[in-house]
Amino acid sequence: MPDTPQQDSPQQNIAPPDSRLALANRRIVLGVTGGIAAYKSAELIRRLKDLGADVRVVMTPAAQEFITPLTLQALSGNPVHTTLLDTEAEAAMGHIELARWGDLILVAPASADFLARMAHGHGNDLLTTLCLAARCPLAVAPAMNQAMWASRSNQDNIALLQARGIPLFGPAAGEQACGDVGPGRMLEPTELAHLTAGLFPRQLLTGTRITITAGPTREAIDPVRYISNHSSGKMGFALAEAARDAGAQVTLISGPVHLPTPDRVQRIDVVSAQDMYDASLGALKQTDIFIATAAVADFRVENSRNQKIKKQDNSGTIQDGRMTLTLVENPDIVAAVASHSPKPFTVGFAAETQDVENYARQKIARKGLDMIVANDVSRSDIGFNSDQNAVTVIWPDGQQAIDLASKAQIARDLVTLIATHYQQQHKNAR
Ligand code: PMT
Repeated sequence: MPDTPQQDSPQQNIAPPDSRLALANRRIVLGVTGGIAAYKSAELIRRLKDLGADVRVVMTPAAQEFITPLTLQALSGNPVHTTLLDTEAEAAMGHIELARWGDLILVAPASADFLARMAHGHGNDLLTTLCLAARCPLAVAPAMNQAMWASRSNQDNIALLQARGIPLFGPAAGEQACGDVGPGRMLEPTELAHLTAGLFPRQLLTGTRITITAGPTREAIDPVRYISNHSSGKMGFALAEAARDAGAQVTLISGPVHLPTPDRVQRIDVVSAQDMYDASLGALKQTDIFIATAAVADFRVENSRNQKIKKQDNSGTIQDGRMTLTLVENPDIVAAVASHSPKPFTVGFAAETQDVENYARQKIARKGLDMIVANDVSRSDIGFNSDQNAVTVIWPDGQQAIDLASKAQIARDLVTLIATHYQQQHKNAR
C-alpha cells in the first residue's frame, strides 16, 4: 500500500497515520559512551526526534572526547547530563529523576568498557548509575573494534546482558575506522531509531496528530469585565489524556480554565475566540484529527474598551441606568477547520438544551463535520462543569449513545469511536 493518498481520491487531503510518529510521547534517555561512533549519536538524536521522541542525552567522560555536549544539547533541545556528582545538575534534574523520566535507556554507541561495567552492575558514573536505578527497559547498540567484540570477556558480558533480556542492536559487520574488517560497527542511526520504535507496542492512534480545543473563551467588555460561559475544560482535557493514552501526539488549545496540563500533552493557552481561531488554524499543518470541545463564545463585544467603563460613562454605552453593548459574530473555528484544505478528520460538539439530536444533525451539515458529539446541557448532572457526561455521537449515516459515565470514561469511548471512523475514512481514501 502506498502511504500517501492517491491524487484522485475524494479524501486525498487526509494524511495517513504511518511510522513517522511511532515514538510520539516516548521519552528516550540516550547514553553515549566513548568511541568513534559517538559522532553518529548526533544523527541518531535527529532520527529519534523525527519519530516523535523526547530525547535527553547522558554522556560519559570518554564520549565527550569524541563529540561535544553542546552539539547534542542543541540537537536534543534538552540539557546534556555528564556527571553524577554535580550539585547544579542534580538540582535541575537528579539522576534518580532522570532514570524515572525515561521510557527507555538506549546506549549508543555502547563501548566494550561500558558493557563490561553494565554487565557487572557498576555504578561508578552517571550512565551506569542510571542503568541500575532505571525501572524502564534498557537497550544497547555496541560499537568497538572487531577483535574486542570477539574477545571472550566481551562475549561473556554480552551473554550476561542478553540473559537479562536487554535487547542488543547490532553490531553490523564491515570496514572499521581502524582499518579492520569484521563485526563491531554501530548500526546506522535510521535503523537504530526504527529498532527503538519497535520496542514499543503500536497503539490505536500511534502516528496520529490530534488537536483539541477545550474550555470557554472570554470576550472582553473592558479590562475588568468579560462575557463567557460555564465550561470548565474537563471534557476537553479528559479527551486529551485519552488520545495521548491511545498513542496520539496531542495539542490542547485551551481557554481560561483551572486544570493542570496533562503529562506529555502540548498546551496552548488562549483567551478569546479570535485567539482560539488563530491557534487552531496555526496547528492545522500538524493535525490529522481536530476535536472541538470548547464552548466558544458565538459573539464578542464590537468595541471593547481599553479603560474600565465607569457607571457615569458619557460615551453612550451607559444611559438611563442601562448599558448597551453591540455584539458581533465570532469566526466559527470548527467550520473553518472543516473547510480547510487539507482537511483533518473534524469532530464537533453540540451543546443543546432541547431537541438535542436534531440540532446536532443540523450542525454536522452546516459546519461540514465528519462527526458530532451531542451534549444535553439542560441537565445539571452532565455537560458544563460536571465530572460526568452522557452523549450521543452522530455521523452522517449513523449514531451511537454513550451512557452516563465519568468524563474520563466518556473520553476513552469517544477516542475509540473517533479512531475507528478516522481509520475507516483512510482505508476508503486509499
Ligand atoms: O468544559 P466542560 O465543563 O467539561 O463542559 C463540556 C462541554 C459541555 C463544554 C462540551 O461537552 C460541549 O458540549 N462543548 C461544545 C459547546 C458549544 O459551544 O457547543 P455549540 O453547539 O455552541 O458549538 C458547536 C460546535 O462548534 C462546538 O464544537 C464548538 O466548539 C464549535 N464552535 C462554536 C462556535 C464558534 N465560534 N466556533 C466553534 O468552533
